[in-house]
Amino acid sequence: MIDIHHHLLFGLDDGAPDLDTSLAMVDMAQRDGITHIVCTPHANGHYVFSPEENAARLAEIETQYRKCAGASITFGLGCDFHLSFDNIEDALQYPTRYTLNAKNYLLVEFPDFAIPQNMAQVFYEMLLRGITPILTHPERNQTLIREPERMKEWIRMGCRVQVTAGSVLGRFGKAAQRSAEQLLRNRWVHFLATDAHDVIHRPPLLRAAYEIVARTYGQECAECLCVTNPRAAFYGELLPEQPEPVGLFEEENPKRGLLGRIFPRQR
Ligand SMILES: [Fe+2]
Repeated sequence: MIDIHHHLLFGLDDGAPDLDTSLAMVDMAQRDGITHIVCTPHANGHYVFSPEENAARLAEIETQYRKCAGASITFGLGCDFHLSFDNIEDALQYPTRYTLNAKNYLLVEFPDFAIPQNMAQVFYEMLLRGITPILTHPERNQTLIREPERMKEWIRMGCRVQVTAGSVLGRFGKAAQRSAEQLLRNRWVHFLATDAHDVIHRPPLLRAAYEIVARTYGQECAECLCVTNPRAAFYGELLPEQPEPVGLFEEENPKRGLLGRIFPRQR
């Protein structure tokens, strides 16, 4: 399995605080059957985001990790991209500073509240520049839990969706779990990822979620979300053909019948 969202780099954000934790996270991920990890520290107003510093941290982790017998994980770099004005401007100019493995997929995280109205325009400009936004954990966003239909236009444009493995297991509460189930049922999800921050509260584990998805939606779906699609994102390739999503192309405001048009609803 391939994990495209993981706060493995130590001392940079609210992920691993030190090298030992990073090494414990890699060990846990490997035991779980994860073969590739993209290290995706936050790029937001709280933390300094420096691709050079990220590469140096990863080199430190790899040097220690490769000393372990059986070390087999392949690492990549990216970021957990906050949709702030400054970030967006910079990413449109220098996309590979932020994209997964400096290729063409970008993890984007919404603010918890008040998603700006111009998101479609932002995503359109990203797509025009060859950046495919991956909407991270919409099932944990209060606005999108209430109004999942806001994602329709973005997904139709070409955005992709990542659900957190822990949400499928109920680790983020009932509302996130129900939202994850609805997204999975409707086939609006393209990736499962760990969004790991440590080995206890937000661990780097995909296997349990893989198995639930395999049991509920089929082995092929689990393989697609945990292996095939994330591998394509890791290497900057197009995703293979995806199963037909449910309800994505329905009119949001279907035209009402003749009487409805003659006598519009009073509000
Ligand atoms: Fe994250």
